[in-house]
Amino acid sequence: MTHRHWHILGAGAVGCLFAHAMAGASIPCTLIRKHTAQSHCLLHVQNHAGESRVKIPCETAAQSTPVEYLLVTTKAYDVEIALRSIRHRLAENASVLLLVNGMGLAEQAATLLPDKRIFCGITTEGAYRRGPLDICHAGHGITRIGGLQTEAEPDWFAPWRALHLQCQWEKQIGAALWHKLAINCAINPLTAVHGCRNGELGKNAKLWAEVETLCDEIATVSTALGYTQTANTIVEDVARVIRDTADNRSSMLQDVQACRQTEIDFITGYLVSRATAMNLPVPHNETLLRRISDDNT
Ligand code: PAF
Repeated sequence: MTHRHWHILGAGAVGCLFAHAMAGASIPCTLIRKHTAQSHCLLHVQNHAGESRVKIPCETAAQSTPVEYLLVTTKAYDVEIALRSIRHRLAENASVLLLVNGMGLAEQAATLLPDKRIFCGITTEGAYRRGPLDICHAGHGITRIGGLQTEAEPDWFAPWRALHLQCQWEKQIGAALWHKLAINCAINPLTAVHGCRNGELGKNAKLWAEVETLCDEIATVSTALGYTQTANTIVEDVARVIRDTADNRSSMLQDVQACRQTEIDFITGYLVSRATAMNLPVPHNETLLRRISDDNT
């Protein structure tokens, strides 16, 4: 099996998790960091089985060696600037895989890099950053990957099946991304506004009523976009995620509590923009978008 060399842009929890997994599967990879004076860095990953440290090559975007396979794992609002920083290094036939929250980014990448192959994915791996290059892999999930311009599985994907992270090729990646976005729209902004853990949304009757109102709006938009499966199951899917992640603080709540920028524009913002384009009213989603965007500024 030929192993392609991946460059990973974004050394947060997901980027480090994949760099660690690639090193474990002998897939060559290089971490691209904002600043580094060294040619290698030490990644520290903790999971239920113990701790592991691996040495990974690292460099900055400013270097000049060509990049053929690029995995982007930045925050949603950093994707454009990150892609601009590395554009000059992308090989003619480069493949760019966005493993980022939210929607609308693959289209943005395709506009910015019209001659590159764009892929996108979503992951439910539970990982969080404890410090620079130091992460905790708290729970296993699934990573679904698919193509923006193609449904066919590319040659580079086969070695990803050997990662200790479960990765699967998804022909309908758009539907999978939408489904994740729908769930995030119903959970993340509410937990951020009310300052509560995910489970609270299911336990508190007033909060659950808010979840249901959001789900009604999300279902209407899903139906109009042809995502009928999401429209039909959104309430039970959200209820299940709330139950399964009851003790978690959503990523948006964590961002708000740490006074960091949130990804609201790429989650609720994307849903509201699609609804507006179809003249569909989504007032509850709009209110949350405004509240969190105001706090962002
Ligand atoms: O964004 C998140 O935090 C998660 O995707 C989830 C499960 C919706 C909330 O914790």
